[in-house]
Amino acid sequence: MKEVNYIDVSEKIQKQLPQGAFLTVKDNNKNINTMTIAWGNLGFMWNKPVFTVMVRYSRHTYKLIENAEDFTVSFPTKNQLKEELNFCGSKSGRNLDKFKKLNLKIQEGKKVNSPIITDCDVHLECKIIYKQALENSGMNEFVKNIYGEEKDYHVLYYGEILSCLVSE
Ligand SMILES: Cc1cc2nc3c(=O)[nH]c(=O)nc-3n(C[C@H](O)[C@H](O)[C@H](O)COP(=O)(O)O)c2cc1C
Repeated sequence: MKEVNYIDVSEKIQKQLPQGAFLTVKDNNKNINTMTIAWGNLGFMWNKPVFTVMVRYSRHTYKLIENAEDFTVSFPTKNQLKEELNFCGSKSGRNLDKFKKLNLKIQEGKKVNSPIITDCDVHLECKIIYKQALENSGMNEFVKNIYGEEKDYHVLYYGEILSCLVSE
């Protein structure tokens, strides 16, 4: 893995995101899980590069990330791991170990506790510096309709990008 400036791979990241990426979290009790995400913000805030992920309350990942310092986002930008993206986007780590089930390999991150998904080729290592739960009061009709009556809103986790890694 080689460390690069995240701006050099920002186009790859933006193009892959709607197709799916892996949000991986290791919590303070060393529980690890990964889930597929397609929403995220790559930006700049508080004078830091920031990647923001959105996690609904109902996700097992929510339980972990609430008790974690950091997360990683791994992008399979070469069309790989399609089945794994489907699986991790439909099955919950509450009931099974996705890594074992899929034989999905992980490796230690460089600057965070959360691991990265080995067979992806671009990774962001992010330290959680702010979180914010979406509130009904700020939503227009379009956004309200997305949630309906369920109120299973997303919580936004703002991650300072500590490193951006690419496979060599
Ligand atoms: C393409 C795709 C994108 C998704 N994006 C998100 C997302 O950004 N936020 C979210 O909370 N769930 C998202 N999901 C749903 C979760 O991945 C799914 O509910 C998963 O099973 C949660 O796993 P967990 O319970 O182990 O955390 C997405 C699913 C797919 C298939």
